[in-house]
Amino acid sequence: MLGPDQPVIIHMLDIEPAAEALNGVKMELIDAAFPLLKDVVATTDVVEACQGVNIAVMVGGFPRKEGMERKDVMSKNVSIYKAQASALEQHAAPDCKVLVVANPANTNALILKEFAPSIPEKNITCLTRLDHNRALGQISEKLNVHVSDVRNVIIWGNHSSTQYPDINHATVKTTNGEESVRDAIANDNWLNTEFITTVQQRGATIIKARKLSSALSAASAACDHIHDWVLGTPKGTWVSMGVYSDGSYGIQPGIIYSFPVTCEKGQWSIVNGLKIDELSREKMDATAKELMEEKTLAYSCLIDD
Ligand code: LMR
Repeated sequence: MLGPDQPVIIHMLDIEPAAEALNGVKMELIDAAFPLLKDVVATTDVVEACQGVNIAVMVGGFPRKEGMERKDVMSKNVSIYKAQASALEQHAAPDCKVLVVANPANTNALILKEFAPSIPEKNITCLTRLDHNRALGQISEKLNVHVSDVRNVIIWGNHSSTQYPDINHATVKTTNGEESVRDAIANDNWLNTEFITTVQQRGATIIKARKLSSALSAASAACDHIHDWVLGTPKGTWVSMGVYSDGSYGIQPGIIYSFPVTCEKGQWSIVNGLKIDELSREKMDATAKELMEEKTLAYSCLIDD
C-alpha cells in the first residue's frame, strides 16, 4: 500500500465482542512474517487505536439488518462516525489521511469531517476506487484486453447504486496506440445501459453470490486508493476518489462526492475541464441529489442523537 520499502505499524480497532477474533487476526499477521510489519496493536480502546496514526482506514460501520429502516442504519453510523471523528481529531497525527470504506461511505466521511474540524478537509476521503476498478474490469472483459491497458474511467458521486460510471474520457491501449473506449467498444447501447447498471449493482451482485459483501476487491481498492494518494498517480492517468466537493462540475459544496483526481506529493486535485454531455449531466446530478438527501437524513439523526 505504501510502496516496497515503507515499514508500517498496524493499529486495529474493533468492538469488545470481537476482541478475541481481532487477536486472532493479530496472530495471523505475526505468523505471516511480513518483512515491513514492525508492530501490530490490536485493541478495543479507540484512544489507543487512534494514537499517532498517519493513515486511518475506516472499515467498520453498522450493517443493515433485517427489518431495519434506512434511518435506523444511518443513525447507528452517525453515532459511530461522530465518536471516531473526535478520537481521530484528538489522538491521530495532525496530518492524518482518512479513508472511509464502511457504508454509507460518502455520508460517513461527511459526518467524520464535520466532527473533526481540525483535520484538514482535503484529508478526509471515501472509497470509490472499488467502483473505478470495477468499471475498468468490465471494459477490459468486453474488449478482451488486459485491465492495465484501460484507463481514465470516472466514477461520479455516491458509492451506491446511483453512482455514475463514465467512460466518455476513458482510453484503451491498442496496437495502433491509444483509442477512446467508446470507439473501441462501438456499442453505445451497451455502454449507456448494461455497463452502467453492472457497475452500479456490482456490490449487490457480489453479496448475492457470496452471501457476504465484497472483501478482497474492496481491500485491494483501499490499498490502491491510499497508494496513489500518497505516492502519486502515473502521468496522464486519473483515479476516482470521494472528496469534499469544491463546487467543481456544478456539484454543490457540502457533500463528499466522487470525482476524477490526480495525486502528487500526497495531495489530490480534481481533474477539471472535462466535457460533460447531457446524459452525464443528468446522472451526475441524480447521484448528487441522493447525497444531499443522505446528508439531510444524517443531520436529522444528529438532532435525535
Ligand atoms: C460493495 O460495493 O461491494 C459494497 O459497498 C456493498 C455493500 O453494501 O457492502
